[in-house]
Amino acid sequence: MSKVLVTHQLPGERIHELPDHCEMNVWMGPGLMPSDALRDELAGCEGVLCLLTDRIDEALLEANPQLRFVSSMSVGVDHIDVTAATSRGIPVGNTPGVLVDTTADATFALLLAAARRLVEADRFVRGGHWRVENAWSPEFFTGNDVTGATLGIIGLGEVGQAVARRAAGFDMRVLGWNRSERTVPGVENTELDALLAESDFVSINVALGEETRNLIDERRLALMKRDAVLINTARGGIVDEEALAWALSHDRLAAAGLDVFAQEPVQEDHPLLSLPNVVTTPHIGSATLATREKMADIAAANVLAALRGEAMPSCANPEVYQR
Ligand code: DGY
Repeated sequence: MSKVLVTHQLPGERIHELPDHCEMNVWMGPGLMPSDALRDELAGCEGVLCLLTDRIDEALLEANPQLRFVSSMSVGVDHIDVTAATSRGIPVGNTPGVLVDTTADATFALLLAAARRLVEADRFVRGGHWRVENAWSPEFFTGNDVTGATLGIIGLGEVGQAVARRAAGFDMRVLGWNRSERTVPGVENTELDALLAESDFVSINVALGEETRNLIDERRLALMKRDAVLINTARGGIVDEEALAWALSHDRLAAAGLDVFAQEPVQEDHPLLSLPNVVTTPHIGSATLATREKMADIAAANVLAALRGEAMPSCANPEVYQR
């Protein structure tokens, strides 16, 4: 029987089908599987069902020539060397589609929270600073209007489009930029630099790859309006975090809402964490139980297909099946 490593206990139903088809070895924790445990446990496995926190690099693939497939419980596959997998004929499964609305909701939650300074205001109240002498004043905790503002969406994939649908409910003008031309109802296609210069809010919804790493760099941040708000629910590596921290602390940008960081978990002393105009969450864009169950079910379905010798229903490198 094929051996399959599952790097975390998973929710959902379909994971329970795996033991009928393979010898399933589940990492029981505590916590995430350390990289040396991943290396050790992968030995002899034909497949791995992993999370976005597991780095599947070329060295790991090289050390495991018996590996036939990788299935990740994530839509993003930047933690996997997909090029190296493809060159070895290894399909890489992912979980698109099911987390679109949940992630778009989280994007808007961050956008509203950053625009209206919700977290700062919450801290103010809980910290006992809301007193009679400062109970209310015309400029007390003023933020940015969302309704009627211009939203620039970087990446018009499924999540970007779902963000655009939500923006329509706020009567926003929506600008969009995508790496390849894509027409989306209600979205004006715009060059990236122009989008940054014209938008009151910018939402990053593009995948991380070599072309998008540091896409929002110092030069591009400087194009943004001084009172603009940047939201990132995609991947931290798309933004130059040092330049972002500088812009936010030098009145060059109003606020940021960040669910993702270049290095996760983010270090406690990261410069962005000390800024009051940053609202942050720990990569929870898709974190509802219903969505996580759907993601786990797709990841398990990808494993089951691979074990049967069939094409994975959701595959990030379908070209492996063309051979
Ligand atoms: C993914 O699946 O890539 C998301 O980042 C999870 O929230």
